[in-house]
Amino acid sequence: MCGIVGVVGLSAAAPLLLDGLKRLEYRGYDSAGIATLVDGQIERRRAEGKLKNLAAVVERQPLAGTTGIGHTRWATHGAPTESNAHPHATSRVAVVHNGIIENHNTLRAELEAKGQKFASETDTETVAQLLDLLLAEGLPPVEAAKQAFARLEGAYALALIFTGYPDLIIAAQRGAPLAVGYGDSEMYLGSDALALAPLTREIAYLEDGDWVVVTRAGAVFYDHDNREVTRTKKLTSLTGAAIGKGNFRHFMEKELHEHPVVIGDVLHRMLDGGTPRLPALPFDLAAVKRITMSACGSAFYAGLTAKFWLENLARVPVEADVASEFRYRAPPLDEGGLGLLVSQSGETADTLAALRYMKTAGQKILSVLNVPESSMARESDAILETIAGPEIGVASTKAFTAQLTVLAVFSLALAQAKGVLPSAEVERLAASLLEIPAKAAEVLANEAPIRQLAKRIAEARDVLYLGRGGCFPIALEGALKLKEISYIHAEGYAAGEMKHGPIALIDKSVPVIAICPSGPLFEKTASNLQEAAARGGQIVVFSDKEGAEKLAPIAAETILLPEIDPFAAPILHAIPVQMLAYHVAVLKGTDVDQPRNLAKSVTVE
Ligand code: F6R
Repeated sequence: MCGIVGVVGLSAAAPLLLDGLKRLEYRGYDSAGIATLVDGQIERRRAEGKLKNLAAVVERQPLAGTTGIGHTRWATHGAPTESNAHPHATSRVAVVHNGIIENHNTLRAELEAKGQKFASETDTETVAQLLDLLLAEGLPPVEAAKQAFARLEGAYALALIFTGYPDLIIAAQRGAPLAVGYGDSEMYLGSDALALAPLTREIAYLEDGDWVVVTRAGAVFYDHDNREVTRTKKLTSLTGAAIGKGNFRHFMEKELHEHPVVIGDVLHRMLDGGTPRLPALPFDLAAVKRITMSACGSAFYAGLTAKFWLENLARVPVEADVASEFRYRAPPLDEGGLGLLVSQSGETADTLAALRYMKTAGQKILSVLNVPESSMARESDAILETIAGPEIGVASTKAFTAQLTVLAVFSLALAQAKGVLPSAEVERLAASLLEIPAKAAEVLANEAPIRQLAKRIAEARDVLYLGRGGCFPIALEGALKLKEISYIHAEGYAAGEMKHGPIALIDKSVPVIAICPSGPLFEKTASNLQEAAARGGQIVVFSDKEGAEKLAPIAAETILLPEIDPFAAPILHAIPVQMLAYHVAVLKGTDVDQPRNLAKSVTVE
C-alpha cells in the first residue's frame, strides 16, 4: 500500500526511480511522483493515475540528478490528484510516505499557526512542513529528522531528501516496511526487495521504530531510542527478471497458469515419501490444544478452509476471525495456544496487529507467508513458506492455492503428531494432494467451457456462490475474486445458509454457482441447489463427473472437473473459480491486474 523507492547514486536517478516504482506499482496506483536533487535544489515531477502518466511527464520534462526519492500512491487522506501526489516538498525538503500520520490534524493546526503554508490535503505534507520549520530554525537534516520522527504518531515508512545535501536520504520505518539496498558506490531504498531486485541483491531491512541515514558510503541505522544499531545484510533470492509477464496478457493470467508448478513445489518441499515434513518448529506440535487463526481477504479464506481440515482431521479446535475484527475484539486466549496467521505479503497491517496481539497473549506464532523477509516473518516463532514467487496481479491466485496446500500438509502433520489419524490414512490423504498438480494442469488446459460460462456471468448483476465444508471458503473466494476484478456484485454463502435469507434474491437473472465436488456433503448441497432451481435460479455446477451427472437435470451450465478426494477438492476447485473471475473481467474490459481502488499490500488498517 503505497510504494517507496530511493537512490543515492552516481548514475541518473530518474530512470532507476521509475523502474523501482514500476515494480512497486502493485502496492498502489492512484498517482505517482519522483523528486531529485538538481544542483542541490529539489525538483519534482508528479502525475495523477497510473505510473505511465508519470513516465510520460518525465519524458516531456526530463529530471536530472543522481539522488532522489519516488512514490506510487494508494490514497488514504485526500483524493488521488496530482497536488496530493507524493513527494510533498517545501523549498528545503521533499518527503514520500507510506501509511498514515494519525496526529496530522493536530500537527497541521500547530504548523499553520506558526505560518507554514500547506499545498495539499494529505497527512504526509505535515511531515514536510514540520521538517521545513525545524530546518528553518537552523537544525541540520539529521537532527531535524530525529526531532520530527519523535512527533509523528501512526504507522508509516518515510523517505526524505534535503536541499543542498546531494549525498543524503534519511528514512524511517514504523509499521510499514523499508529495505536498504547496497550497490557499487550507490545505495538504494525500497518498500520491498522486489523494487530493488534489478539494482542489488544485498539488502538490510529496517526493524520497527528504526530510522536510517543513507549516503553513497553506506547506511547508518538507529533504533527508536536513537541508539546506533547494526542491521544485518542479507542476500535476497529475487532476481531482476522475476516480474515479466511472458506471453500472457496479464500477470493474473500468468499467475493462474503457475498453479500446478507452485502447488507441486510446496508438496515437493513438504511431503517426504508421502508423509508430511515440516521445518523444525520451536514448539511441540503434539501439545497444541487450540489454534487461533487470523488473516484478511483471500488469505482468511485459506485459513477458513484450514479450520475445516484442522478440526476434522487433527481434532484441534480452531477459532477463526478476520484480523481487523480480531485485533480489537481482544479475545481471551489461554497461554500456550498456537496463533496461526496467513498472509501473502507478510505486511498486512491488520494481520500483523493480530499476530502481535496473539504474541502478547502468550501464543506461539506460526505464520504461513509468501515473503520470508517480511515483517510478519521477522516477528513469528516459525514460518511455513508458500514459495509461490512474487505475485504481481493484485488479486491473489497462486499464493492462495499455495497457502491452501501448505495448510493441508500442516493439518496432516498435526493430525499425525497428535496420533489422531492412522499413518495409512495420512499417507492416503497426502497422496491425494500429490494428484493436484497434474489435475490443475488439466483444468488450465480446458479453459474453453470457463470462457463460455464467463459470457453468461458477465451479463449478471448479482451472482451467488455456494459451497459446504472445505468448499464454503472457496465459494467466498469465488465471490471476492469476481467482485474485485469484474466489479459485479457477488456473495459467497454456506449452501445450507441460503434458505435463511439470500434465497429471497433468487430469480432467473441470478446465477447460482455451486462449488460441489462429490463427497460426504454433496447430497446436502444438491438439496440446496434444488431449492434455488425451484425459484428459477440459473444453476452453475462446478463438480466432477459423478456430481455433474446427478445435477444435470437442474444445471444451466456445468464446469466439469477432474475427480479428486474430498480432502484435496477445495484446492483444485479454487482454480476454475479464479479463472472464471479472470475471464469475466477480461470480457468486461476492466483493469485486471490493477483493479480500481485496490492495492496488493494493505499496510494501513
Ligand atoms: C484478494 C486479495 C486480498 C488479500 C488480502 C490479504 O484477491 O488478494 O484479499 O488476500 O489483502 O493480503 P495478504 O495475504 O498479503 O495479507
